[in-house]
Amino acid sequence: MDRFVVTGGVPLKGSIAVSGAKNSALPALAASLLTEEPVVLHGIPRVRDIATMVSLLGSTGARTQVEGGTVRIEAARITQPEAPYELVKTMRASSLVLGPLVARHGRARVSMPGGCAIGARPINLHVHGLEQLGAEVTQSHGYIEAAAPDGMRGAVVHFDRITVTGTEDLLMAAVLAKGETVLVNAAREPEVTDLADLLTRMGARIEGAGSSTIRVVGVDRLYGTEHRIIPDRIEAGTFLIAGAITGGDLLLTECRPEHLTALTVKLRQAGVEVTVEGSSRMRVRSGGRLRSVDMTTEEHPGFPTDLQAQYMALMTQADGISLITETIFENRFMHASELMRMGANIRIEGRQAIVAGPRELSGAQVMSSDLRASASLVLAAMVAKGETIIDRVYHIDRGYERIEEKLAGVGGNILRVREGRE
Ligand code: EPU
Repeated sequence: MDRFVVTGGVPLKGSIAVSGAKNSALPALAASLLTEEPVVLHGIPRVRDIATMVSLLGSTGARTQVEGGTVRIEAARITQPEAPYELVKTMRASSLVLGPLVARHGRARVSMPGGCAIGARPINLHVHGLEQLGAEVTQSHGYIEAAAPDGMRGAVVHFDRITVTGTEDLLMAAVLAKGETVLVNAAREPEVTDLADLLTRMGARIEGAGSSTIRVVGVDRLYGTEHRIIPDRIEAGTFLIAGAITGGDLLLTECRPEHLTALTVKLRQAGVEVTVEGSSRMRVRSGGRLRSVDMTTEEHPGFPTDLQAQYMALMTQADGISLITETIFENRFMHASELMRMGANIRIEGRQAIVAGPRELSGAQVMSSDLRASASLVLAAMVAKGETIIDRVYHIDRGYERIEEKLAGVGGNILRVREGRE
């Protein structure tokens, strides 16, 4: 298992190009199952979750070809409409193939995702939505089977709570359904809009993506196309916080500043200078002291839960008490105890973390527990005194493309130590 060795104390300076969004690339890859024609996707990040999704598409019978950041998928025939346990257990977003497989093939079998580090994360809302569209869904032997041999029928699907991949799954099911579907209380994340853009290029009729009501008029078939994935706002946000926490001066290129508003508002309140340069560049500068600022995670356009752990690392360095409230997932504070081992002063009370700062952090041996928690530890290590060893970085490799190279490129003292070569 690889680990990172980080020596803190260097202000990061220079420029970093942001990669394509993992959470946009995953549904886009799943959407390629909706047509027998080739779909070519650009800007696909080279991270482990993407490799998992590409293997999953391959196992359904699709032909896949990966060349750098471009993936070509040709699902001429679906031979096995299934997401097996081995894949779902490593990446619960595998359930994104449920909607497209039933819509295209009339049948799908997807392993139920178990619990994961950040909470129970059920898929009942995906299932309920598919039933509304006329699929018959049964559950046995740890698998969910959905069947709609005569095709799906448009319907009103009301989500009890906002779900990102649930909205995406249903959108992909609705595009080939007969008649009109209305998704009510839909997720408004930019990744949903990106998926709708791709589906529209494939011939789908969709209105309202990016708002909480999405209307879809089903079409008989979809076609091949080419599409570029949007930049990863969570990766970009992680680097903005890296610039802020190290007192650095970073320019992010190839990003979408309008997707990062909730974070930039908080950073500015904390005393960090964030400027937007044109439509795709952002600069973050921080020299002086940081002020504590409370934060509550919310669905988009609120503050993303996927940046909560990194924000907590930042607040350990801010002057005063900050209250961080996690409303999306019930168990997403595992990074707090590792940050405490580095000297942070954090108290957890249910869904709230109370962070008192600034505290000088000192390097320690810490362990990654999930993707974003690992990013938070890397950020803390960047500002800690001495050496931090971060174990189990396979978590970070699920969603960040060469993070150690990108950080080293702007002066960070971070090294990947590969197993067996220590
Ligand atoms: N939920 C249900 N039932 C469902 C679906 C969701 O109760 O059927 C609950 C979840 O347990 C959670 C809440 O609804 O408490 C929101 O979950 P959501 O479905 O929106 O999460 P997701 O679609 O599984 C995506 C991202 C996550 C991100 C969340 C929230 C992808 C592939 N994953 O997950 O990303 O945290 O939305 O924004 O898009 C990450 O990248 O590190 C990551 C975890």
